[in-house]
Amino acid sequence: MNVGVIGLGYVGLTWAVVAAANGINVEGVELNEWIKSCIRENRAHFYEPEIDNLIRRYNGKTLHVVEAFSENTDYEAFLITVGTPLKSTATGDKGEEPNFEYIKSAINSIKNVYNGSQLIILRSTVSVGTTRNIVLPFLAELCGKKESELLVAMCPERTIEGNAVSELTHLPQIISGNNQRSLEMAQNIFRKITPCVVEADSLEEAELIKLYCNTYRDMSFAIGNAFCMAAQEFGVDGAATIRHANYGYQRSNIAMPGFVAGPCLEKDAYLLINNMPECDSRAFILAGRKFNESLEDMVVRWVKGKIGEPGENKIVAISGMAFKGQPATSDLRGSSSVYIAKKLKAAGYKMHIHDFVALPDEMEALGVGDYYADLFEACREASLLLILNNHRKYETVLPDPSILYSKGGFEILDSWGICKELQYSENVKVSTLGNMFKEDAK
Ligand SMILES: NC(=O)c1ccc[n+]([C@@H]2O[C@H](COP(=O)([O-])OP(=O)(O)OC[C@H]3O[C@@H](n4cnc5c(N)ncnc54)[C@H](O)[C@@H]3O)[C@@H](O)[C@H]2O)c1
Repeated sequence: MNVGVIGLGYVGLTWAVVAAANGINVEGVELNEWIKSCIRENRAHFYEPEIDNLIRRYNGKTLHVVEAFSENTDYEAFLITVGTPLKSTATGDKGEEPNFEYIKSAINSIKNVYNGSQLIILRSTVSVGTTRNIVLPFLAELCGKKESELLVAMCPERTIEGNAVSELTHLPQIISGNNQRSLEMAQNIFRKITPCVVEADSLEEAELIKLYCNTYRDMSFAIGNAFCMAAQEFGVDGAATIRHANYGYQRSNIAMPGFVAGPCLEKDAYLLINNMPECDSRAFILAGRKFNESLEDMVVRWVKGKIGEPGENKIVAISGMAFKGQPATSDLRGSSSVYIAKKLKAAGYKMHIHDFVALPDEMEALGVGDYYADLFEACREASLLLILNNHRKYETVLPDPSILYSKGGFEILDSWGICKELQYSENVKVSTLGNMFKEDAK
């Protein structure tokens, strides 16, 4: 079975590798030269457990990076895994509208080999209706057949970065098709990888399931964040309140406070509400998303409150630039840490940035501050440290005391309350998201 994959990013490459390991002959195309050169060197361009071993094992056997799909190969299906970011606003800020250009460009890349008989699987996350109203007509135009004759499936990706290789063979795979034949073909492909396949009733239902899974997480974190901030109005620690409310009480599973970020969660709620302007659910979902985003401004406010307006010696050290620490990832896309750093830079602060996993080149390319490979070197000249993700290394990291002791005073925002073994001197004050505004209580 030959399957072509369009886009070898996080989703495309993990799927390609796992499919190749399960007997599918995979050919992948990718626009980015650096990504292709990494794969040729038998490694992924991002951190993901096990993936490099699998690339090494299957590269050139059942896994092939090609410049274009071959007219001599009989492809069963093409899997579209390109990014679906939101359109940026005119000022270059985060927008709220979907951008279909990547999907159209992905479809264009099969125009020499697509004849309408191969299955087209949309794996990218899209707003509801995209498969039927954007993908199907575009394919029909490409091959000159009627939409009803084509084979299209919507099978969304639901893995978590940092555990995707394992999850691909364990998670139930949502599949849907525009007709029975498409469904059967999608079944046939996904059953080679995983034992559990769930048939959605329609393309729209499959699109919705993916958006529900991510928006559900987004909204449940929004409740945790809202409760955390509300507690501080009463002079109470928000994180402790949630921990104690959940303890031994199964009916409460309130999320701990934290940044809700990454390339998926930052956009999927917007994709969900995109084409439901009249629906009453819209305001609720939008409010939850906006509340999670507002944490970034709260951190900026906290920094200003602690060290005052920017000035010559006001250096902010930021550690944990990747969008999450557990499971560990090198991914900086959609990271609240990056947005916070950009906001602090715009306000005039100078920054030292550090991360345990993110790649140095990518950290430097952010252009928000000087990159440090060592956390305590990043702190040396700084007045304050923001620890913005929950990487497990913070649990055991022990500072060289001379760095922190030498300060007249040093503030740390340990957002996730994870630095259990940091040894602080008396002039170091530590806050968490749970108590960062507690002192401001009326
Ligand atoms: N990252 C995740 O863990 C994850 C999880 C679930 C769903 N998703 C969804 O999956 C989709 C892909 O996400 P991603 O994180 O893999 O994005 P990504 O940006 O890492 O990967 C997309 C890749 O496609 C390539 N590309 C774009 N147009 C192309 C074309 N015409 N031909 C060949 N290559 C092309 C890009 O260069 C890029 O490398 C998104 O819709 C995302 O929301 C992502």
